[in-house]
Amino acid sequence: MKKHWIISSVASLAILAAASAPAFATTEDGLADPRNQTYEEKHPDQYKTWKQTSESEQIEDALKEDPNMVILWAGYGFAKDYNKARGHFFALDDVRQTLRTGGPTDPKSGPMPMACWSCKSPDVARVIEERGEDGYFEGKWARLGSEISNPIGCADCHDTRSEKFQNGEPELALTRPYVERAFEAIGKKFDEQSRLDKQASVCAQCHVEYYFTGPNKTVKFPWDRGTQVGEMEEYYDGIEFKDWQHAVSKAPMLKAQHPGYETWREGIHGKNGVVCVDCHMPKVTKEDGTVYTDHKVGNPFDRFEDTCANCHTQSKEQLQNIVSSRKAQVLNMKLTAEKQLVAAHFEAGAAWDAGATEAEMKPILMDIRHAQWRWDYAIASHGVHMHAPEVALEVLGTSVDKAADARTKLIRLLAKKGITEPVEIPDISTKEKAQAALGMDMDKMNAEKQHFLDTVVPQWEAEQKERESKY
Ligand code: HEC
Ligand code: HEC
Ligand code: HEC
Ligand code: HEC
Repeated sequence: MKKHWIISSVASLAILAAASAPAFATTEDGLADPRNQTYEEKHPDQYKTWKQTSESEQIEDALKEDPNMVILWAGYGFAKDYNKARGHFFALDDVRQTLRTGGPTDPKSGPMPMACWSCKSPDVARVIEERGEDGYFEGKWARLGSEISNPIGCADCHDTRSEKFQNGEPELALTRPYVERAFEAIGKKFDEQSRLDKQASVCAQCHVEYYFTGPNKTVKFPWDRGTQVGEMEEYYDGIEFKDWQHAVSKAPMLKAQHPGYETWREGIHGKNGVVCVDCHMPKVTKEDGTVYTDHKVGNPFDRFEDTCANCHTQSKEQLQNIVSSRKAQVLNMKLTAEKQLVAAHFEAGAAWDAGATEAEMKPILMDIRHAQWRWDYAIASHGVHMHAPEVALEVLGTSVDKAADARTKLIRLLAKKGITEPVEIPDISTKEKAQAALGMDMDKMNAEKQHFLDTVVPQWEAEQKERESKY
């Protein structure tokens, strides 16, 4: 009787508190506050280490390092510019600055859809909650530029409004409904996942393969048949999806995004339940003995004692040597596949020029599509040489094989059209030469981008400041 009384009075107190006290860290409409600084006072260690992702600031131009990729992505945004990943802190700057998002001058101009913000900011979760998925996704990328103002942070991975989070518990959360649906499709409903699985799943909100679908270009993960390379390929073939048509070969291409979660699952650590967070966000003990999660998501070798050394007895040097030799092996197979793929695209281009028909080209173009999808799946997830080197090497092997199938058929077809000399490949030895070989007007693109950064972005920033001042 007494106990019952206590419980009900606690419950009514809670109701009173909910009605009177302002909700924790919300916008004026009760949505999760997307600003990372909001959480600094309550969670100083997590905030401070999160902010240190800004120390990984170096920009590495992947096309400069490997100009073959310009040809492989001919006709698609990635041929314009593609940098390697850096710290989460820069996600928003980088998506504004890349040539891939172009130089929009008004909310309606392209080239990219709204979906391109999806893995850059906790404002995405806020806008989806406020306007629904269609209300977020519809239209071009510049439409809600002023709404997306904070880089990847607390409200991307946590239910920041919950009392538990406020009190220092993780309360991990999927903050995008399309991610929840994807996990349901593979039979892993988030609410039913173990703590470790949840730790991997929050990363899988972004470090995955996805595509844009429907009139509003909504994000979807192609997981309905599974997450392996062949299963996703079958899925895409089944719905006859293509990301773009290749500018040289005219093949219906797929662009792998960064299937890091999918490849990690297939690797030795994934299979042993060692999750992203074990290596990239280790638990660290402070001088006073308390433990917190290091939020500086970066290279695990920088904190060897708190990461690898928790489970392995080898020295840092030994393990680094293993990882770098695997990196070299993967790179070598990557270049082997690229050599075949580049040739296949140009040979297909020559076959069209020589009067090949759609029917003659169809099986060849499917081989090219599959070969390049496999190449991209294997290498687009950064760190794959660490996470699942055997998967990368095997998949790259099938890429080489399928590209060879395409080239065998092309040689026969070209001979039938009277071409017996090898098809000439232009000079693509640098990024600039490869872009010139495709007739890309880089000066124009750079000027448009600069105009956008000088005129549109400051306007967005002013509107953001005004809106956020009301939170
Ligand atoms: C990329 C995802 C991600 C982001 C961004 C993120 N966290 Fe975390 N956070 C985690 C994970 C993973 C854990 C550990 C979960 C576990 O132990 O099960 C964690 C744990 C926590 C905890 C529980 C205590 C602890 O340290 O283990 C707090 C509090 C926390 N984070 C606050 C923050 C704050 C504040 C921010 C923003 C400045 C933030 N997090 C950003 C993923 C994230
Ligand atoms: C909201 C989307 C999102 C989430 C959630 C997310 N990431 Fe990222 N991650 C990105 C993007 C985007 C980049 C590239 C940022 C750039 O280059 O501007 C990135 C970059 C990285 C990098 C490269 C960092 C560097 O310094 O080079 C690592 C490592 C990484 N993420 C690991 C993780 C892990 C582990 C998790 C889960 C704990 C996670 N990410 C959760 C989107 C996300
Ligand atoms: C067993 C440890 C381990 C696990 C588990 C792990 N990673 Fe990594 N990851 C690493 C190491 C080590 C590197 C850097 C490899 C190197 O130095 O060449 C790395 C690299 C990366 C990179 C590339 C960073 C860059 O700047 O190029 C990303 C992104 C990444 N990991 C994300 C993830 C995600 C997402 C998961 C889970 C799905 C995950 N990792 C699981 C150890 C791990
Ligand atoms: C939470 C525990 C854990 C952490 C952290 C961890 N590993 Fe492992 N690692 C394992 C397990 C389990 C295996 C499976 C083989 C075994 O039983 O030893 C493994 C296997 C390996 C292997 C052999 C894989 C193969 O292909 O044969 C290498 C290399 C390796 N880990 C490197 C690393 C590196 C580098 C780090 C840090 C970036 C790291 N591991 C972090 C648990 C861990």
